[in-house]
Amino acid sequence: MSTASANSNKPRILTGDTPTGSLHLGHWVGSVQRRVELQRSHDCYFIIANMHAYTTRLAKSDEIRRDSIEIVRDYLAMGIDPECATIFLQSEIPAIAELTFLFAMLIPFNRVMRNPTLKTEIELKGLGETYSFGFPLYAVGQTADILAFRPVGVPVGEDQVPHLELTREVARRFNQIFCHVDEHAEDADHTTLGGVFPIPRADVGKVGRLGGIDGVNKMSKSLNNAIYISDSAKEVEKKVKKIFTGRQTATEAGDINNVLFQYVRTFITDAARVQELEEKYAKGDNIGDGHIKLEVAAAINALLEPMRERRAKYEGNEDLVMEILKAGCARANIVAEETLARVKSKANLVSWPRALAYV
Ligand code: TRP
Repeated sequence: MSTASANSNKPRILTGDTPTGSLHLGHWVGSVQRRVELQRSHDCYFIIANMHAYTTRLAKSDEIRRDSIEIVRDYLAMGIDPECATIFLQSEIPAIAELTFLFAMLIPFNRVMRNPTLKTEIELKGLGETYSFGFPLYAVGQTADILAFRPVGVPVGEDQVPHLELTREVARRFNQIFCHVDEHAEDADHTTLGGVFPIPRADVGKVGRLGGIDGVNKMSKSLNNAIYISDSAKEVEKKVKKIFTGRQTATEAGDINNVLFQYVRTFITDAARVQELEEKYAKGDNIGDGHIKLEVAAAINALLEPMRERRAKYEGNEDLVMEILKAGCARANIVAEETLARVKSKANLVSWPRALAYV
């Protein structure tokens, strides 16, 4: 069904999401917008990290399954074209699990536990001392998600940068230990020096951190402060009206670094209008929050409207979504299996050629 090629000569990138629910504007500006921009010039792989969701929601596997399918709908709605990008499920790529085990040997345990993103998650989710062994292992797993595809870049939000650092360390160590790349080699030279893995760059989106409508925290489903891609125009208006700025009157000098103005700059596309709004707001030149919110809501709805239209085709059509996902998994396995074969050969693991295929 698809023209996307696993052997494309375009530079390869990989990124993805843990299925924790519907995607929101933070996902769009932080990463998905960039993916849509890159999908024709790059060989793109987008992973639905469903095993990662099991690290904290094991008892709700039915929800994880639903969320995984919903994310594909969101991707398609946002404009990811399955004819040129490969969308796939982590749990369908055995090479990822196999690489995770080997990569776990390349990083000191304490290095994994120092990962600030893990630490923050343990705190935010109140995991205390009770988290499973699989929870910190997911950070190693994420290095395998990425390196299985030997990408040159990984478009992500700011919070994922520590995972990328870990990935780069694993790639360097593998290349040094098993491919004899000199430990002083420049990152850019690793593959020409015989390394299996390019050292992938984190490609942080235009807005690394989009605030939520609570005006304080990062936009996030768990904080209940998100505007979803699948929200109706009415819902968007209602949510934007709720944005907290703390400002009392239209003549009070406003802080153009508040969340409302982050939205102005992010979603209003007319640069002259953005500048005008900023100037009036900073001076308190008779411009109320309510008015700005109307303009922001209209701008967000202009962005979401074509997404709503594209989504309609996949709504209530799970078979079509599944077909796209299955074709993606088949393509993803071709690349990941090739990586695994190279890794095994370099790491002196006895193996025989094998082929993975769906029947
Ligand atoms: N950890 C990412 C998130 O929570 C999802 C993810 C899993 C990912 N594997 C990845 C992102 C590989 C980029 C590359 O959203």
